[in-house]
Amino acid sequence: MSIFVADEIAMNFGGIRAVEGVSFAVEPGEVFSIIGPNGAGKTTIFNMISRIYTPSAGRMMFDGADITNVPPHTIASLGIARTFQNIELFANASLLQNLLIGRHCHSKVGLLAQLGFTSAVRDAEIAHREKAEEVIEFLGVQRYRDQLIANLPYGVRKVVELGRALCIEPRLLLLDEPSSGLNVEETEEMGHWIGDIRRDLGVTIIMVEHDMKLVHMVSDRVLALASGRILALGTSSEVQNDPEVIRAYIGGAPA
Ligand SMILES: Nc1ncnc2c1ncn2[C@@H]1O[C@H](COP(=O)(O)OP(=O)(O)OP(=O)(O)O)[C@@H](O)[C@H]1O
Ligand SMILES: [Mg+2]
Repeated sequence: MSIFVADEIAMNFGGIRAVEGVSFAVEPGEVFSIIGPNGAGKTTIFNMISRIYTPSAGRMMFDGADITNVPPHTIASLGIARTFQNIELFANASLLQNLLIGRHCHSKVGLLAQLGFTSAVRDAEIAHREKAEEVIEFLGVQRYRDQLIANLPYGVRKVVELGRALCIEPRLLLLDEPSSGLNVEETEEMGHWIGDIRRDLGVTIIMVEHDMKLVHMVSDRVLALASGRILALGTSSEVQNDPEVIRAYIGGAPA
């Protein structure tokens, strides 16, 4: 069974049709990439999956359940995490604190218990800590653990953004332009992290990305989008050589 299915999803903003009748299915364990010129509707699709927007039409399924109308705050606890095109971390908090904030969706302890600081709260705190430390070790960022995000190099912040999402212990991870702002070496390193996350943690990944080298390196399948519609779906080589895709890029933004 597909882990995620988009069935004819659409998103209108006033008169703008950002996404029109898009359907695709993502299989468990795959890295599924979405490419397309600026304004193609890629981030809008992520915003629908993470329920920031409700689709104007269509249906989305996660793990066999309809998530089209679930409340946004339940998405993380269902097992869907994302990173943002523009890094969204707390600049004046430490790396560790940012990861602990990422664990918020796992707080199952009630408010009264928290006020009383019961043993359940203490146990939950310990579990959150352990998970955050595990992610820090997995990503090899121990030496930055207690530093403020504001003082970290951009490339490290991108990795922390990934860590914040991993703390949710997702089964589906949405990465919005993981290479943006990174140099060639950092982009390659990001590619290795993506491979490790899929292989070692068994997480399914949907990635929006402009860097075709990274797309080629990590993707099982690639969906090309332009003006809110699907142009092609296949392996990265098939999609890159598709005449319609080539036309869209020549007429639009650079890949
Ligand atoms: N909240 C919004 N209100 C109005 N229009 C929007 C909104 N969000 C996105 N759009 C429009 O929808 C279209 C798709 O935008 P989207 O951000 O999904 O593109 P994208 O493929 O992620 O582009 P990029 O590669 O530049 O990030 C654009 O025309 C954009 O201006
Ligand atoms: Mg975008």
